[in-house]
Amino acid sequence: MTHQDFLHALVCPTTHTPLQLADDEKSLTSQDGVTYEVGDTGIVNMLYPKELLPDDAREQYLYDQAFLRYDRGVSWVFETLNHSDEAATRAFMIGLMDLKPGMTALEVGAGTGKDSALILEKVKPGGTAVLSDLSPNMLKLAQDKLAVDDVNVHYFLGNGSYLPFADDTFDAVFHFGGINTFSERKKAFDELTRVVRPGGKVVIGDESIAPWMRNQPTYQTLWKANPLFRAEVPLEDVPPNVANFRLHWVFGNAFYVMEYTVTAQAPEIDIDLPIPGKDFVDNWRIRAEKAGE
Ligand SMILES: C[S@@+](CC[C@H](N)C(=O)[O-])C[C@H]1O[C@@H](n2cnc3c(N)ncnc32)[C@H](O)[C@@H]1O
Repeated sequence: MTHQDFLHALVCPTTHTPLQLADDEKSLTSQDGVTYEVGDTGIVNMLYPKELLPDDAREQYLYDQAFLRYDRGVSWVFETLNHSDEAATRAFMIGLMDLKPGMTALEVGAGTGKDSALILEKVKPGGTAVLSDLSPNMLKLAQDKLAVDDVNVHYFLGNGSYLPFADDTFDAVFHFGGINTFSERKKAFDELTRVVRPGGKVVIGDESIAPWMRNQPTYQTLWKANPLFRAEVPLEDVPPNVANFRLHWVFGNAFYVMEYTVTAQAPEIDIDLPIPGKDFVDNWRIRAEKAGE
C-alpha cells in the first residue's frame, strides 16, 4: 500500500464514509465538514473526537510527557514480573497474529514501536504496517526508530475507539498495553474487530493479574501499588462474530493476551432442532424449573 493508497483508504472515523483529499494533499475532509490534517511529517492526524473524553485526554497527556522514559520504564516493569523475557514475550504475542509476507496489519496504541518492529519483520517483503497511537510524542519516537526497508509503513494519530478504515481492511490487528484505560473500551473492541477481514486475527492484551495469583503476597503488593493490575479480562467486550478464542497470561501471569479469528457472522443456537428424546426434554425442563425460568 503506497502513501497515496493509504490516504485514500482513510475514511471518516465515525461514519466510515469517504474523505475528500485536498488538492495540495495536506488535509482530508469528511462529508460533515470535519477536517483531518495530513501535514508533511508522515503522521496523519485522524484523532476523534477532536476534544478527547477525560480518560483518553489524561492518557494522551501522560504519555506525551513520559515518552522519553517509556522504553526503560516498561522494560523495568516486565523485569519485576518474574524476570520475564520481554523480547521473547513480545515475539510470542506478535506470532499470534499469524502474519505472512505481503499482508496488511494495523497496530493500535503502538507507543514507541516495540512490537511494531516485529510486525514489520513479519509482513516483509512487500507488506504493509499501519501504526497508530493517541500520543503524538510516542508515535514520533516510533517513527524515528523503525527501519522501513522492504515494507510499507504508515502512521496516524488515532483513538482506538474510532478507527478511520472501512470494514475488513486488515489481515490482522494488534493492541497491547493501553486498552484498560480507554474511555470507550467496548467500542474499541468493536472497532478492532470491524476492520479485520473474516478469517483474520485480532490480538489484544493488557494488565490483569491471573485470578489464581491474586492472593500471593508479592502480587498483593503489585495489586496495591498499581490499580491497573486489578483489571478483569474484559471478556464481555469481545464482539459476537469471533471464533477460536484463546486467552493467555504473560509477564509473570500479570498481563492477559487474547487472540481470536474474526468471522463473517456470529454463531447461533438452533432452537428449532428437534429434541432427541424424552430424557432431554425432562432433564432440561427440570433444570429450567429449578433455575426459575
Ligand atoms: C503502555 S503503552 C503501550 C505501548 C506499546 N503497545 C508497548 O507495548 O510498548 C499504551 C499506549 O496506548 C496509547 N493509548 C492510550 N489510550 C489510547 C487510545 N484511546 N487509543 C489509542 N492509543 C491509546 C498510549 O498513548 C500509549 O502509547
